[in-house]
Amino acid sequence: MTTAGILMEPGFENRVSVTPESAAQMIKMGMQICVEKNAGTKASHPDNQYEAASAKATSRDEILTNCNLIYSIHPVATTDLDKMKAGTVYISMISPLTNSSYVEELLKRNITCLSLESIPRTTRAQSMDVLSSQATVAGYKAVLMAATTLPKFFPMFMTAAGSIIPSKIMILGAGVAGLQAIATAKRLGGVVEVFDVRAAVKEEVMSLGGKFIEVEGAKDEKSAGGYAVEQTEEFLQKQKQVIHDHASKSDVIICTAQIPGRKAPLLITKETVEAMKPGSVIIDLAASTGGNCEVTQNDKTINHNGVTVIGESNLPSTMPMDASKMFGKNIINLMKIIVDKEGVMNINLEDDILKETVITHQGQISNTRVKAQMQPASV
Ligand code: NAI
Repeated sequence: MTTAGILMEPGFENRVSVTPESAAQMIKMGMQICVEKNAGTKASHPDNQYEAASAKATSRDEILTNCNLIYSIHPVATTDLDKMKAGTVYISMISPLTNSSYVEELLKRNITCLSLESIPRTTRAQSMDVLSSQATVAGYKAVLMAATTLPKFFPMFMTAAGSIIPSKIMILGAGVAGLQAIATAKRLGGVVEVFDVRAAVKEEVMSLGGKFIEVEGAKDEKSAGGYAVEQTEEFLQKQKQVIHDHASKSDVIICTAQIPGRKAPLLITKETVEAMKPGSVIIDLAASTGGNCEVTQNDKTINHNGVTVIGESNLPSTMPMDASKMFGKNIINLMKIIVDKEGVMNINLEDDILKETVITHQGQISNTRVKAQMQPASV
């Protein structure tokens, strides 16, 4: 029997990994569910909603010591790992490629860890992809933040008090967050220009009503699984110049460009920010990986020469209800390949999704990329 526990997140986080609705679905799958008291309160899901779904609200210690499957969004402290039984399956976002010491801690305690950021971006895994679901929230919220910070309207107005011209929104990167940002900025009536290095997104950008700005010479590899590859220095210089020319006419820039596992590409220099109109707004979603903008500071809002630069790196937490709903649905879809019809867990490392997602299992590093990074000689 699988007894799964939902942990309360740290104080800065408003989301919860599994909502009462998702807990009810897991119970239908034959699992027992425990939830740490008040884990869902900040996401507008008090304990009584979990209890109505037949989950048990209990203490953190009881979950850590008794459950054989445990969920959290942020990785728990090692003092919490100490309380888990050997063989516990722990599902979280542990950033295994940049957090080797945490992987060591899991190994020491023989905990099976599935890291949700490692879910491959394939068609079959799409419904489990928390990076995509949470980037959708971030792309939407970034535009709303820009609209409320900008001292101007987004849409065009023709009024008795004069005409208002629509705002110009530049979006860097048209992946999951970027596409959602385009759709939201268009709905608010902005004029949208978009930069990306993958030619495949041009049609999607245009179908959402954005203008796609091409900079020639981008390296684009279809084999990268829907992600971008690193660009040459020569291309990046050229791109920065084109972005500079467009930035001086933009009111808002939303930065979402990334290459997985690397520092965010620097696309907006300090000089570009200084060439922008006073009152303009930059929202840099890539802040936690260095930012697409040179002056961005992670988790800070600054004013640089009259331009507001927002480096907020946890926007999904500002919309905890739907962000948690999407997160919980992603977990349920993952459960469907882990828990059988009788509610019993079976981690099949031959499965192409689990091959990537399982980081540690039975005292070994299971994910080959993490293994290559941590034990280079043995691979
Ligand atoms: P994604 O990988 O789907 O999209 C990134 C896009 O950037 C791709 O389309 C890629 O081709 C493009 N790109 C790469 N290099 C570029 C360049 N030189 N110029 C123009 N475009 C370029 O990533 P996703 O899921 O949309 O996430 C975007 C960013 O948002 C990431 O940095 C992610 O960490 C961040 N994020 C931030 C959140 C927040 O609260 N601040 C929440 C969720 C995601």
